Amino acid sequence: MQQKLVVFSGAGISAESGIPTFRDANGMWGKYDAMKLASVGGFEEDPQAVLDFYNARRKNLLEVEPNHAHRVLADLEKQYDVTVITQNVDNLHERAGSSKVIHLHGELTKVTSSYNRLDTNCIKEYPLDVPIRLGDKAVDGSQLRPYIVWFGEYVDNMDLAEYLVKMADIFVVIGTSLVVYPAAGLVNYAHMEIPKFLIDPNDMKGGMPVGFEHIKAKAVEGVDVLVRRLKEMEE
Ligand code: OAD
Repeated sequence: MQQKLVVFSGAGISAESGIPTFRDANGMWGKYDAMKLASVGGFEEDPQAVLDFYNARRKNLLEVEPNHAHRVLADLEKQYDVTVITQNVDNLHERAGSSKVIHLHGELTKVTSSYNRLDTNCIKEYPLDVPIRLGDKAVDGSQLRPYIVWFGEYVDNMDLAEYLVKMADIFVVIGTSLVVYPAAGLVNYAHMEIPKFLIDPNDMKGGMPVGFEHIKAKAVEGVDVLVRRLKEMEE
């Protein structure tokens, strides 16, 4: 049986594809107000501004490509039972070929109801080159909104993610500042004795989580170090 390798990724893995992170210098939340653009209150107050913000990010997704880090993770499926749990709302893991991807914070490729975000009748794929406009309706008659988990909203995939991390034989964290909860708490669910790696070029502001080996490199370089370390473990 293949070992279960669970990856937990954040914005840093997509940085080399040209998608800015949130909290680095030039990060999204340095330029834009998260509470205005990524919260239910912000959407109620100025829906046009929120739609403009996400329409731009949706369109940008057509202009970027997966990078070496996404591709190496997809390639690891030849040897391991890989699940990627991502905080990212882009689709670069899927486009690189990863077959099991769980999105904790939603997906730019989908839209949903603004009355009930989790209504499965209303969640649907929506072409990235078609902007979501004020007046566009979900099937329940409410304003269409991006399928994104905004601040203060329930992270519906957390139970599944916690279970998968608990069951992991190897755990790899890549490109996340580990400051946004509940997602960041996932690092505490891995079994004490399994190999745990964290790929990030910077020191972790909140300190390194316990038991992790820090591969201090950008994701595109760090994944090659990871593959070497996994090979060494097999020998
Ligand atoms: P952050 O912007 O908070 O953190 C990005 C992390 O990536 C930092 O630890 C950086 O050091 C690291 N990093 C930067 N460049 C990198 C590179 N080339 N390779 C690898 N790592 C690199 O992003 P997240 O932790 O993903 O939520 O943010 C978590 C959540 O906050 C997001 O999902 C988003 C945001 O608000 C929502 O929008 C709901």
